[in-house]
Amino acid sequence: MTGRLVDSVVDRAVRIVERATAKANSNVALAKYWGKRDEVLNLPYTGSISVSLAGLSTTVGVEFGASLAADSLTLNGSAASEREARRITSFLDLVRQAARSDQRAQVDVRSNFPVAAGLASSASTFAAMALAATRALGLSLNPRDLSVLARRGSGSAARSIFGGYVEWFAGESSDGTDSFAEQLAPPEHWRLGVAIAITDEKRKKVGSREGMMLAAKESPFFPAWLESHDADLDVVRRGIRERDLVAVGQAAERNCLKMHAVAIAANPPLLYWTPSTLAVIRRVWRLREEGIEAFFSIDAGPQVKVLCPWAQRATVADALGRVTGVLRVLLSEPGGGVELVGAA
Ligand code: PMV
Repeated sequence: MTGRLVDSVVDRAVRIVERATAKANSNVALAKYWGKRDEVLNLPYTGSISVSLAGLSTTVGVEFGASLAADSLTLNGSAASEREARRITSFLDLVRQAARSDQRAQVDVRSNFPVAAGLASSASTFAAMALAATRALGLSLNPRDLSVLARRGSGSAARSIFGGYVEWFAGESSDGTDSFAEQLAPPEHWRLGVAIAITDEKRKKVGSREGMMLAAKESPFFPAWLESHDADLDVVRRGIRERDLVAVGQAAERNCLKMHAVAIAANPPLLYWTPSTLAVIRRVWRLREEGIEAFFSIDAGPQVKVLCPWAQRATVADALGRVTGVLRVLLSEPGGGVELVGAA
């Protein structure tokens, strides 16, 4: 027993690379995570289902060093705020604990899309960081354990470990070991078009963490959200399996509107939309009247993600781009899971 333990420690020491870089895609939830039953472990009240967004990615480089006195963090080339740096240090502490290391790290985070604006940059950031940091310290976690670790950084990051269509299970245990994500179907199962209307590039004032805590504590609609959520999960899961865009799209829209209704009804109220968010919603409904199967979803921010048939993505993007207040439209599709892009 002792021999095996020594072997594994030696093995780990040999495999230590100290530096690794990983890349993960953002995701959009079709049945959303909105409410934590445990705020430290990021354990959700409900399950959630998302699709990975190709081309909206975050690359995270992590380098541990014995000579570093403290962790340091750059976000898109600039030094991070103290709050952001603290969040990264708490996350790295989990990895250091698992690897029995006390080395500090330099972390470089680069996203190719607006951050902290409701496009799930924390999902792609912590999924990439989970892989980069563990590999840098010589740990090789299986995807499930990686998902559990990424969840500690940001709940939705548990899903960004995987590509394609992904379900994150709420789990029941208080230690969170059964609250991880799994792939429901790979990206090639169903090539949907996803057009993302950017209506505001500024950082949002209320992040999803504060937003969902407020909603859970101060919204009279929160119990109804919980009660009706499993039915949405069932429809979305089955719709993905059957590639039924109308079923998935209608359920995703309903689920999104319920989430925002919960937030709007909180005290104080929380409204993530701008006038152009609403204008895009109305344009999507009009597209449907015009015969295009387009359905929206909105996370904790003002941007609108629109699902549509792959063949109609350009038409949909063009229509969204003409809505007053839309700054630009990004085009995406179901993408892959987290991957290592370099290790030295
Ligand atoms: O992972 P967080 O803490 O950023 O929360 C994400 C919350 C939503 O994006 C609004 C919904 C979801 O399931 O991604």
